[in-house]
Order: sequence, then structure tokens, then C-alpha cells
Amino acid sequence: MSLHVAIIMDGNGRWAQRRGMPRSAGHVHGAKAVNGIVEAAVRSGIRTLSLYAFSADNWGRPSLEVDALMRLLQRYLTTETRQCIEQSIRINVIGRRDRLRPSLVRAIEQSERLTAGCSRMHLRIAIDYSSQHSLLEAARRAPRNEALSLGDFETLLAQVDHSVPDAGAVDLLIRTGGEQRLSDFLLWDCAYAELYFTDKLWPDFGEAELRTALADYGRRQRRFGKVLAAAETG
Ligand code: IPE
Ligand code: IPE
Ligand code: MG
Repeated sequence: MSLHVAIIMDGNGRWAQRRGMPRSAGHVHGAKAVNGIVEAAVRSGIRTLSLYAFSADNWGRPSLEVDALMRLLQRYLTTETRQCIEQSIRINVIGRRDRLRPSLVRAIEQSERLTAGCSRMHLRIAIDYSSQHSLLEAARRAPRNEALSLGDFETLLAQVDHSVPDAGAVDLLIRTGGEQRLSDFLLWDCAYAELYFTDKLWPDFGEAELRTALADYGRRQRRFGKVLAAAETG
């Protein structure tokens, strides 16, 4: 299966609040769910997995929560990189880097460097990511008065996002936590993505849930604006 799966990992805060715990405890359990899903994705043969970890709008949360998330992201990168090398998972963090603390930027660069030769799965983690910002920035960088092909624009967009190598279009977008919206994630890349929404909160999303989503995807009929061969004579 050569799939690009993207996941909006939502519901950590509600998961914790339902247990009388602080929201940051939900993020700790959310990080554990990430480990499980990365392993499950490798086992499922997913080619590219894009995870929405922190949106540009998430800076607007209370500073204690933002700090906890930044620490968790840094810890994830420093502790999981070895595991990724062993499983040949290439790490790539997409999004802005100019607003991240220097120690996190160093951790990102180190994980990307150490896993650059890995090829079994491409793990993209979106941090300080906003599709609208990326599209605007790519448009700003486009040369004036020159015909720009779709491919040229996508190259610019990948540069803005620090996206390497070419991840291609999203085939399946999963959102946990019950909301049915994209929250500014991979708007360009999801042009023809199949959308899958589940009420499961992110810390409860495991291999069984991923397999259910993939099975649902397998029953979808993707037409990309065309008609199916069997229907053409009708
Ligand atoms: C998703 O969970 C994680 C991040 C956005 C960083 P939330 O923190 O949004 O959890 P809910 O939606 O409030 O339950
Ligand atoms: C989207 O979730 C961002 C991430 C999962 C990282 P949010 O909880 O921030 O999105 P909204 O506020 O429900 O749209
Ligand atoms: Mg949320």
C-alpha cells in the first residue's frame, strides 16, 4: 500500500478533562498514542504519515499548555529518533521554524539529519503549521510576471514548509476527537483526500482504529473528477 495518510490528532484536552486531569496530561498520553500509531503505520505499509502536532493558532493557548507541548515535542524527537533509525523511518518536521525555541530547532535538525537515509516510511510532523500561511508565503516567493506551473508552485510550497522529500498529495485524512473540520491543515495537499472523522479521542486511537479507517478508505471510490470506465457508456 503506497498511501499518504494525514492525521489531525485532536481530543487530548477532553480526554484528560474527563478524567479530572490537567490538559497537559492529555498531551502526555497523546504522545504515547503517537508511538503506537507510527509503529502501526509501518506495519500497515503506509508510505507517508503526516501528523498535525501543533498548529500556528495553538500559540493562542495558555502559556503553560504551550510550554508543555513544546517540551513534549522536543522530548519526542530526542527519544524516538533512534527507534526511527532502527525502523528506517525518515523524520521531517513541517511548518515554521522561526518562532520555535532554538533547542527545539536543533532537535528537529538533528532528527532530520540522522534519519535522512531512512526509506521505509516518511514521518512528517507538523509544528507551528498553517496552510494559509504557507500558501501566502509561497505566493510571495513566486517570481513576478512569470508563468508558474503547478509543479513550480508545489516546489516553492515544499521549501516554505521545510518539506523533504516530495510527500505528494494526501490520500486519506483522519481526524480524531469528533470535530469535522480541517483547522488549516494541508489544505493544498488534501485537494482530493478522502476524509475520515471519528469520535475517538486521540489518546484512545490505536492500531485497531487505524485499521478500521484504512478499511473504510479501501471501500471508497476515488474518481478525481472523472467517470469510472464501467459508467462511461451510460
Ligand atoms: C489536540 O488535542 C492536540 C493539540 C491541538 C496540540 P486538543 O488539545 O485540541 O484537545 P481538545 O480538542 O481540547 O480535546
Ligand atoms: C487542530 O486541533 C490542531 C492539532 C490537532 C494540532 P485544534 O483543537 O487546535 O483545532 P480546533 O480549534 O478544534 O479547530
Ligand atoms: Mg482540539
